[in-house]
Amino acid sequence: MTVSARDRLIVALDLPDLAAAHDMIARLGDSVSFYKIGMELAYAGAGLDLARALAGAGKKVFIDLKLHDIPNTVERATRQLAQLGATFATVHAYPQTMAAARKGAADSNLKLLAVTVMTSYDDADLAEAGYAFGVRDLIARRARQAQAAGIDGLVMSPEEAEAMRAMLGPDTIIVTPGVRPAGAAAGDQKRVMTPTLAIAAGADHLVVGRPVTEAADPKAAAEAIVAEIGEGLAIRGKRNTAA
Ligand code: C5P
Repeated sequence: MTVSARDRLIVALDLPDLAAAHDMIARLGDSVSFYKIGMELAYAGAGLDLARALAGAGKKVFIDLKLHDIPNTVERATRQLAQLGATFATVHAYPQTMAAARKGAADSNLKLLAVTVMTSYDDADLAEAGYAFGVRDLIARRARQAQAAGIDGLVMSPEEAEAMRAMLGPDTIIVTPGVRPAGAAAGDQKRVMTPTLAIAAGADHLVVGRPVTEAADPKAAAEAIVAEIGEGLAIRGKRNTAA
């Protein structure tokens, strides 16, 4: 199924309260079709009602609550997210957790994304936490386990997208944050890529927060990113034709 450039942009609603979120959604209008709701807004109260309302209004919703608990709890929580009408939800890439989420999302349109290793962790952090693997090996191991568990996609830094696309094949959804339009401030993101390059590298969806929500004109910023995504798709198309 071909996904439009617009549906590939996911705007992170990392805003302090519902009023700010509603204001941003109104300003963005038709320029954005896909929103991510994370812990800040979900825990602000009624953030999940907003998710339900957005889904009811025809928008796509990515619930980024990174589930991880005993299998029974994960399965039941995932079932709730599926009933809410979400399109994507994140789980940590632990085999029990992924298998339970898969069960909870059965018979629904909810697609599950696994988080392999948080990008704030380096090899020393993993060792400190008791892991025998470094970041690169643990990401590869968990990506394979995610595929085995029937997980639909993975969240990763754009720098990993090209190698992971080669490893995972064409069907696994790759979602990348850490995207900055040409000329935008990186903020606290250390490893950033432009929308065009991230899409050309094999990402399917880009999560972008502040470059849109803190722009003087958020709608124009979103439209510019959609145009950059279109350029990335054109590069990919040419490469596929040449192959
Ligand atoms: O504002 P910015 O574009 O940096 O927002 C990126 C979004 O992607 C935030 O919601 C952030 O929590 C999320 N994210 C990330 N890096 C990860 C995983 C998620 O930036 N490794």
